[in-house]
Amino acid sequence: MKPTEDLKHDHQAIETVLRILTKISDNAKNAHKPELDDLDKIIDFLRLFADKFHHGKEETIYFPALVEEGMSNENSPVAVMRFEHEVGRGYIKDIASAIELMKSGDESAVNKFIESVENYVTLMENHIQKENNILFPMGDKLIPSVKQPFLYKDFVFMEGKLFGQDAHKYYHDLLRQFENKYLT
Ligand SMILES: [Fe+2]
Ligand SMILES: [Fe+2]
Repeated sequence: MKPTEDLKHDHQAIETVLRILTKISDNAKNAHKPELDDLDKIIDFLRLFADKFHHGKEETIYFPALVEEGMSNENSPVAVMRFEHEVGRGYIKDIASAIELMKSGDESAVNKFIESVENYVTLMENHIQKENNILFPMGDKLIPSVKQPFLYKDFVFMEGKLFGQDAHKYYHDLLRQFENKYLT
């Protein structure tokens, strides 16, 4: 498998979570209090699957491979993508702290939650489109096809180290469950 196919597959899962989060935020705008247990699970997904795992694969395996093939590490799409990952981490922190405030009964935290969800979703939707439509097609041409399966192998190895089979199934099942609950 091409490494970019695998990364695009992760993007689909992340985009589903972005839609779920948007739905919860829209419900909150209409005075439906978010279910905080569900939000804890979503934050866990964003931290572990979207950031540590997916962004980890990009930052430690895929981007270095692009740089090895001549793409600059500074003043390049890679630098922009790294920067946006960092901004996204800040927004996840904002969402998580709004959730903690909601747990403590702070009514005004709902607005903070809605605002930080909007920041995060806008950033990530644009980020994913840039990778899918600009960076990955560049990478498919830049990285020799003989090298590409090895990058995919490195991804699989990283997945095994981070998750193992059980956790992968857990996230898959969680997505299906939340899709049914919030998006149907
Ligand atoms: Fe990325
Ligand atoms: Fe990505």
